[in-house]
Amino acid sequence: MFITLEGIEGCGKSTQIRRIKTFLESKGMTVVQTLEPGGSALGATLRAILLNPKNSDITGLTELFLYLADRSQHISSVIKPALDRGEAVLCDRFADSTVVYQGYGRGLDPKLLHQLNSVAVNSIWPDITFLLDLEPEIGLKRALTRNFQENKHATEGRFEAENLAFHTRIREGYLTWAALNRDRFVVIDATGSREDTFAAIKKHIHFKLQANKI
Ligand code: TMP
Repeated sequence: MFITLEGIEGCGKSTQIRRIKTFLESKGMTVVQTLEPGGSALGATLRAILLNPKNSDITGLTELFLYLADRSQHISSVIKPALDRGEAVLCDRFADSTVVYQGYGRGLDPKLLHQLNSVAVNSIWPDITFLLDLEPEIGLKRALTRNFQENKHATEGRFEAENLAFHTRIREGYLTWAALNRDRFVVIDATGSREDTFAAIKKHIHFKLQANKI
């Protein structure tokens, strides 16, 4: 079972992924929790480069190829081996982030990005992708509070520094892309409490497990 979480900054992916992990483990599954960029050993170095605000002069294409390199390595060294062992994989961001951030956000062609993703993922696509949807104003406020609390604003946050118009494009891009990929996307309203958001996610996973669809 391969589940990914997507959404704008501050939508609560990390909190929900931890809860999903506990839930699946309570059902007796072995779960690999991972993320993009940065889910492999090489990826950790790529993440530091990609998210460093000092690299703001990086070109759109350079950025794209670094994300794809991260993904390709992540698939072959972490995700595929875990799925082959019969384990569940929970991934914080995946190929859809490239279509949305580099495509709808930065202006590259979403169709081309989808094709490049297809090469990078080597036919491995998620069974379910949860899009945690909320207003960018609320998400950014939450992300800034979190960065301040975790004191990580010095090394991360290149995208969080983008303006509200960029994040609004990202949110709309996600909703457009989710509507085009209804077979695996589930849009969850993440405006409410963490408990409400998790209840909606759990209901869906439960339904899929019951129906033996994952
Ligand atoms: P996060 O993992 O802390 O949510 O943030 C990672 C950032 O990287 C986020 O702003 C989205 C961005 N990103 C892309 O632009 N393209 C990608 O393909 C991925 C995986 C992430």
